[in-house]
Amino acid sequence: MSHAAPLDGGAAAEQRAALRADALAGLSAPRKTLPCKWLYDAEGARLFEAITRQPEYYLTRTEIGILREQAPAIAAAVGPGATVIELGPGDGEKAVLLLSRLRAPTAYVPVEIAPEWLEAVAARVSEEVPGLPVMPVVADFTRSFGLPAGVPQGRRLGFFPGSTIGNFEVTDAAALLRRIRVALGPGARLLLGADLVKDPAVLEAAYDDAAGVTAAFNLNLLHRLNRESGADFDVSAFRHRAVWNAEEERVEMHLVATRAQRAHLGNRELRFQAGETIHTESSHKYRPERLEALADAAGWRARETWTDPARLFSVWLLEAR
Ligand code: AVJ
Repeated sequence: MSHAAPLDGGAAAEQRAALRADALAGLSAPRKTLPCKWLYDAEGARLFEAITRQPEYYLTRTEIGILREQAPAIAAAVGPGATVIELGPGDGEKAVLLLSRLRAPTAYVPVEIAPEWLEAVAARVSEEVPGLPVMPVVADFTRSFGLPAGVPQGRRLGFFPGSTIGNFEVTDAAALLRRIRVALGPGARLLLGADLVKDPAVLEAAYDDAAGVTAAFNLNLLHRLNRESGADFDVSAFRHRAVWNAEEERVEMHLVATRAQRAHLGNRELRFQAGETIHTESSHKYRPERLEALADAAGWRARETWTDPARLFSVWLLEAR
């Protein structure tokens, strides 16, 4: 069963207004930025999917490997009868993997802002995990969100894979994990995927693949502003850069202006110096002790952690303190 509402004209217009407001604010600042959530229009989602298949982008396949290899241990730690609430379910592949290995899960509740993706993931899970009730929730889980009354109360397991937590500044990440704990309710647990600190060369390659897919993903943000906000960026005058920021322990994606130029957004003129950048995404990488500190700050306690043999990626089972 599936109850996602279609993206009506009102919601689409609201999204466009929010994109334009965020772009005006971010591109008027002394250090230009754009929020990474705007990377994911239909084209961006398609490109991200392609990124996950690049040889340099180890994250997705490593996390899936951990979920697969450690499935018996994860299922034992979670126990029977869990209601799985996934934040940002993507294409549903990890959900199907988890749900088919857990013992007698009660329901699957994907929480996602884009109704069309929610529909797709709900359909996939309904088909691939027959008999499991699927209760999609259209919500922006990065803001406050609540679960509908119909979601079973007992044994709630949040599922937040993909190292999406890494896209948040550490204080925002703590606030988000705290809100998730509150939304899930007392006694909740959370299965969380977090990418680990490693050789900067490996990290930078993961965010700048040789085939240029990540570059296209990043540059699509300017195409999107041209398409949806009537901007006039000369996209060919920007290039993709991925750089490890050792101080902040994060990979940053930037769009670099290759020459001095101007662009227009609404009635605003935006000026770029040669070499000036727009910071479009941060992917924070964690050391295990830092992840534990983050969880602790948000009212969670680490119960178990699993990793791959090369210690590239980590999956955590947290429980509410
Ligand atoms: C989907 C947020 C996990 O940060 O690794 C991939 C997004 N950006 N390549 C990440 C992304 C560039 C990705 N997450």
